Amino acid sequence: MIIRKIEPQGYCNGVKRALNIVNKTLEDKNIKRPIYLLGQIIHNKHVVNEFIKKGVIVIEDKNKTRLELLDEINEGTVIFSAHGVSPLVYKKAKEKGLNIVDATCGYVQVIQKKIENHLNDGYDVIYIGTKKHPEVEGVLGISDKIHFVSSILDIDSLNIKNNNIYCTNQTTLSIFDINDIFSKLKTKYPNIKIDDKICDATTVRQMAMLNQEKADLCIVVGDPQSSNTKKLFNVSNELAKVKTILCEDLNTLDKSELKNIKSVNISSGASTPSYIVDEIIDYLKTIG
Ligand code: F3S
Repeated sequence: MIIRKIEPQGYCNGVKRALNIVNKTLEDKNIKRPIYLLGQIIHNKHVVNEFIKKGVIVIEDKNKTRLELLDEINEGTVIFSAHGVSPLVYKKAKEKGLNIVDATCGYVQVIQKKIENHLNDGYDVIYIGTKKHPEVEGVLGISDKIHFVSSILDIDSLNIKNNNIYCTNQTTLSIFDINDIFSKLKTKYPNIKIDDKICDATTVRQMAMLNQEKADLCIVVGDPQSSNTKKLFNVSNELAKVKTILCEDLNTLDKSELKNIKSVNISSGASTPSYIVDEIIDYLKTIG
C-alpha cells in the first residue's frame, strides 16, 4: 500500500500556544487551585484527557454557553480556550474573583478587536461562522447588533441601511465556500468592507487537501467537533474528489474501508496530536 502524509501535519501555532499555557499554569505552584478549563482547550479529547489526568477540571456541556458554564466555577483559576470567550465571560469571571488565564488564539483576538473597533466607529458588522461553535459564541457575545451569517441563504434576510458595513469571519471556515458568501454580500452591499480572517493554518491545509495526489482513499484524522478537521474532510471529498473518511484515532478508524485499497493519503486537523497519526500509519504498514 502506498501511504502519503499530506503536509503540513501537527499542531498549528494557536494550539501549541494554548497547550503551553495550560502546561505552564499546571507547573506554577503559586497559581490558585483548583484549575478549571472552560470548555475543551482545543477540540481533541486525547489532549483534554491528558490534562484531566494532571488534575485539571473540565467544565463542558454542549447545551450550555460558556457564560452559563461559568456558574459552575466559584474559586481558583479558570482557563479560557483557544477559541476565545466573549467580554461578558471575562466580566463574569472577574466579578466572581477567579484567576483568569487566557489561551485565546491570536487570530481570534485580532478578529474580536477589529469587530469592537468597527462597531465603535459606527459600522454595521456582519460575521460569518458556524452555529454554536465556541469561537462564534465568543464573537457574537461582543454585541447583539452583530449580523450573523451561517450560510449563503442568510444573506437574503439581511436588511442593513448603513453605508458602512464591515464583514469578517470565523478562522476555520472553508476557503472555497466563503468566496461565494463574500461575492453575494458584495453584490448586495457594493461598499462592504470585507476582511477575510480564515487563519493561515486552515488555508494551507485546505490547499494541500485540494492539491493532494489521487488515491483510493484519504483519511482525515481529528476530533469530529474540530471545525478545521471537518473542513479538511469536505475539501477532500467534495473538491479533490477523493473518497475520504474521518476518524478520531486508530480505534475509530473504520477498517472495513481499507479492503482492496492500494493508496492512502493522510491528513489531520490542526488540533490532532502527531502520535495519533503515526499510530494509524504504523497500522496501515502492517496491513499493506
Ligand atoms: Fe488559531 Fe487557526 Fe489554529 S485560529 S488555533 S491558528 S486553526
